[in-house]
Amino acid sequence: MFSAQTYKNRRDQIASKVGKGFILITGNEDSPKNYHDNTYPFRQDSNFLYCCGINKPGLFLGIDCESGKTILYGEDITIDHIVWMGDQPKLGALADLAGIEEVASLSDLESRLSHLSRQNASLHYLPPYRALNREKLKEWLDVETLTPSKNLIMAIINTRSYKEAQELAEIESALVLTKEMHHYVRDNVRPGMLESELYGVISGIAKSKGGDLAYGVILTKDGQTLHNHYHGNTLESGQLVLGDFGCETPMNYASDITRTWPVDGVLTAQQKAIYQIVGDAHTAAVEALAPGRSFRDVHLISSLVIATGLKELGLMKGDPAEAVKEGAHALFFPHGLGHMMGLDVHDMEDLGEDLVGYDEKIKRSDQFGLKSLRLGRVLEPGFVLTVEPGIYFIPQLIDQWQAEGKLKDFINYPALNSYRKFSGIRLEDNYVITESGSKLLGPEIDK
Ligand code: GLY
Ligand code: MN
Ligand code: MN
Repeated sequence: MFSAQTYKNRRDQIASKVGKGFILITGNEDSPKNYHDNTYPFRQDSNFLYCCGINKPGLFLGIDCESGKTILYGEDITIDHIVWMGDQPKLGALADLAGIEEVASLSDLESRLSHLSRQNASLHYLPPYRALNREKLKEWLDVETLTPSKNLIMAIINTRSYKEAQELAEIESALVLTKEMHHYVRDNVRPGMLESELYGVISGIAKSKGGDLAYGVILTKDGQTLHNHYHGNTLESGQLVLGDFGCETPMNYASDITRTWPVDGVLTAQQKAIYQIVGDAHTAAVEALAPGRSFRDVHLISSLVIATGLKELGLMKGDPAEAVKEGAHALFFPHGLGHMMGLDVHDMEDLGEDLVGYDEKIKRSDQFGLKSLRLGRVLEPGFVLTVEPGIYFIPQLIDQWQAEGKLKDFINYPALNSYRKFSGIRLEDNYVITESGSKLLGPEIDK
């Protein structure tokens, strides 16, 4: 955990931004896989972690905005629990670690919430993304429909978006281990291997320092499928393997790195040419990162490099700037350039993607490709984000666009025939925005 003062400062900032009323931050419960005592690995809620750092199930935080006083709600364990789980720190001891003034039982919380609800008092809670917390809140507040607090959502986004130096150090420590994971794949991938052989080892590396994987691993010969979590293929000579994986530290700070390797160690000429364009798009994006510039512009700068490179290869045609304006490059680059990262790999997206990544000045587009850009707003010092351009050949998408004659002035459809089995290449690194530009987080990971 960070110091008690860190958590106190964060709660004070959030409470003063909200202004008045009672804030409730819901912690997570253990979640059963098939019966009560066989659970998925426990993952605490990130907002709860941000406000108190306590990594235990079954707890809730109440913050009184006017007095700033915080209460930790939960139950101390009984002798029955101790028999099975060993002794556990008492609520009071946990509260002390996080600078929390008071502890109380869950029944106290229940009566406080139902009292506040009956009084129509100012009560702030976040949108629950787990069914159990949603049901609990509805029951405690005795309501059919929940009304999460926009003030609290914005107060948290406006605090969590600016990373502290100690948070950057956590992310960098996740990246040290992530380098080991990616270099393991680089050094060990061979024709004839199952994807799952690599997946098993890199998962073990992620867990080896007390943390875990930060999100579902993508490690596949079919990198053209963007969120591909299947690891059952045998890798063959001539194929590419795309690995998008990172770990989270024991304090749950994430990394998010993608590398693409040739299975037999050598890129074909066709693969090399596409790899070069992705690399150039990555470099152009990183050079463009700066406070005061919108990430939407950085995405478009990177897209223009992709459209220009694909035109030089004869896969696109016409004016590249016009092609990007019309969204033609999105046939090959259908996702966004990146997203915020921190305690969540897609940081704070439980609070609302558009509230995190967009604002009054920059609204999300509904154009194919650009609509998947999760972060568009103007960058500020302290933001941590990913830069992850890619080029993919998705046969079904190519066929659909070609059948429709979509954007045919910009795409050389017949030239795509020899790329149908190409799969995809993505390169992803993590950066912090500084006063003058940006800084790569963590060590260099080989490309
Ligand atoms: N790992 C998912 C992503 O890159 O956004
Ligand atoms: Mn990723
Ligand atoms: Mn990412």
